[in-house]
Amino acid sequence: MCGIVGYAGHRRADGVLLQGLKKLEYRGYDSAGIAVCSAGEIFCEKKKGRVGELQAIVEAAALDGHVGIGHTRWATHGAPSDVNSHPHLNGSRRFALVHNGIIENYAALKDALLAKGYRFRSETDSEVLAHMLEACDCESLLETLVQVLAKIQGSYAIAVLDREHPEEIFVARKSSPLVIGLGDGENFIASDIPAVLEYTKNMYILEDGEIASVQAQGVTVYDAKGQTVDKKVYQVHWDATQADKGGFADYMRKEIYEQPNALRKMLDAYCKDDKITLPFQFTRKALQEIKQITIVGCGTASYAGRVGEYILEEITGIPVKVEVGSEYRYKRSILDASNLIIILSQSGETADSLASMREAKARGAKLIGVTNVIGSTLSRELEHVIHTMAGPEIAVASTKAFTSQILALYLIGLFLAESTKTISESQYQAYISKLRGIPEKVEEILRREREIQSIAEEFYAYEDMFFIGRLWDYPIALEGSHKLKEISYIHAEAYEAGELKHGALALVTSETPVICLSSIAAIADKMASNIMEVKARNAQMIHVRSEAVPPAPGCKREFLLPQEEDLFTPILAVVPLQLFSYFTAKYRGCDVDKPRNLAKSVTVE
Ligand code: AGP
Repeated sequence: MCGIVGYAGHRRADGVLLQGLKKLEYRGYDSAGIAVCSAGEIFCEKKKGRVGELQAIVEAAALDGHVGIGHTRWATHGAPSDVNSHPHLNGSRRFALVHNGIIENYAALKDALLAKGYRFRSETDSEVLAHMLEACDCESLLETLVQVLAKIQGSYAIAVLDREHPEEIFVARKSSPLVIGLGDGENFIASDIPAVLEYTKNMYILEDGEIASVQAQGVTVYDAKGQTVDKKVYQVHWDATQADKGGFADYMRKEIYEQPNALRKMLDAYCKDDKITLPFQFTRKALQEIKQITIVGCGTASYAGRVGEYILEEITGIPVKVEVGSEYRYKRSILDASNLIIILSQSGETADSLASMREAKARGAKLIGVTNVIGSTLSRELEHVIHTMAGPEIAVASTKAFTSQILALYLIGLFLAESTKTISESQYQAYISKLRGIPEKVEEILRREREIQSIAEEFYAYEDMFFIGRLWDYPIALEGSHKLKEISYIHAEAYEAGELKHGALALVTSETPVICLSSIAAIADKMASNIMEVKARNAQMIHVRSEAVPPAPGCKREFLLPQEEDLFTPILAVVPLQLFSYFTAKYRGCDVDKPRNLAKSVTVE
């Protein structure tokens, strides 16, 4: 999604801004731009394409400005183009503005401005803001912003430069993240922490409705009415190197390899002295009240939720359903304290997941959040939160966050069962020791990556693939096909193995390789029949199976998963699929970290 950076200090602003924009590239974008106050004017350059292309133009201008803003755009209103890129200027070039989010009532606002004679250059919703600043023009920019923002419906994070006050940047947010990095004689603005982490670990995290004035010598934060706010400094506990590639060719590969340690870190933090301790304040009575669990997430997080459906039902005996955020937020679900809603979100900023969270909260349900980003909106708005501790996930395709979310769901299940005494102590301990064994088995799979690479080498040129599985192998199949689509642009579909013959089998031919997941020994024979069905249609099959599952005759290739009890196979089963997508995308020459059209954190509806 779009990214914002800003700088006020003693360094040359253009360099800091370009550097910050590069750090935000992982979020996904199609154009970039900067605006810098220099020699009494606002210099503005913006272009469709990569930050590298913008850099050459900006460097040639040799700007001597020390205050500026920058933006990477992910198109929503208006195609990617130079003119639709940010910053946007008002007619007199007094204001330059960058915006993330969507102004839902922009059409009406634009009509009103057109009627007053304002001329628009772009097709974006954001440009209305630049003209509204001019149209309103109160005594101070703070007052102007208070008035303008009160008229806006939708979501925004904005940063504004004013030629008349070139030492200052104003920022504001509503439902779109923005942080202010606090330096010594310099201050930074960014959509997320990694963009400014090389300069400072001290941050202000803006809350919805807040406005801030950022200058080299200080930052003042105001509420939506313009009253000053006492803001707590948030200290980041990880450093910039964790957000680097650390010797790997791409972030995705590094993040796949970080999984064993990420899982270990979570187990160490939440499982001490053979007891799972989660940072929750629920009383036993409150937990005993829970009669229904709903897991909500988007994309990969929703597939982790679907794996969790099986895990939680098995461990707790409580019925579980899974919903995607974009649908759940508009459902008129009847909720009360007997409902537990678990919101899964790596970023903690996904607009649909946050809206679902707020809706469920308002309807009286109990809530638990699972997020990878400390300080994210999800973690700040919920009282009961598990942090997945996987470290920054930069690649658009989620890997380590997925396996950490599944681990979090095991922990929640065991925590609920133990707190309500619905599990025997011996079963509880047996499950904990199973979890402790998983990181090493993931390492074992990673050591055998060459086997998966050679499967990818054989199959990367096909344009359609199927993934099939039963029970929790099915959401793993969904995640496998999701990964392949995202980064290799191969058309891939996942099916419950028994469902294929009800329609999609018509598409299975020798040109559609089928990845058959069979990690669950208890239903291995059922899966074997489904494999025979695709074999009879001449499909080339890749069998990913547990040791306890017999080989399937006729499969072209197979990958053997380390032995594991059925309920604990999902984390193991997904790792070869992550590597398969990774190598397939590499063989096809794709940019694995920044796939086309996609954004890391989807902060619009
Ligand atoms: C994962 O590979 C995707 N890029 C995407 O589906 C992602 O999982 C989804 O947008 C949800 O993000 P979140 O976990 O940050 O809420």
